[in-house]
Amino acid sequence: GAPVIADLTGLQEGQRLILEWRGQPIWIVKRSKAILDALPTLDDRLRDPQSTNKDQQPAYITGEARSIKPEISVLVGLCTHLGCSPEMVAEIKPEPYDPEWKGGYFCPCHKSRFDMSGRVFQGVPAPINLLVPPHHYQDDNTIVIG
Ligand code: FES
Repeated sequence: GAPVIADLTGLQEGQRLILEWRGQPIWIVKRSKAILDALPTLDDRLRDPQSTNKDQQPAYITGEARSIKPEISVLVGLCTHLGCSPEMVAEIKPEPYDPEWKGGYFCPCHKSRFDMSGRVFQGVPAPINLLVPPHHYQDDNTIVIG
């Protein structure tokens, strides 16, 4: 499939832009500083906090933010269990199912949870983190997926 290009100029903090690439939903989310600061605090609850499984993202994506620009998260929006569409809850607030919820994605099909970098929590059915698709920036606000 051809690469998909998007202008991120108008993307506000907390907003998600949804594109389609190779028949898959691609989520581009602008994260707040509070969300970014919360990422390292979750590491001991995650299955693969440093994304050591290299099948989950391109080689140039490292660390807890899993992104080229810290604030911009780019993910394939399909649960890595059986491919359902997780819901985004991009707020730091107590949730009934997790009093220490720091924002992230919740898959309604079998209750897999991911943080705001798409990192999977321990003890849920999804085996690996949400995938980061190949991408780069053409200029400061223009992203190319694929
Ligand atoms: Fe998401 Fe099963 S498809 S938890």
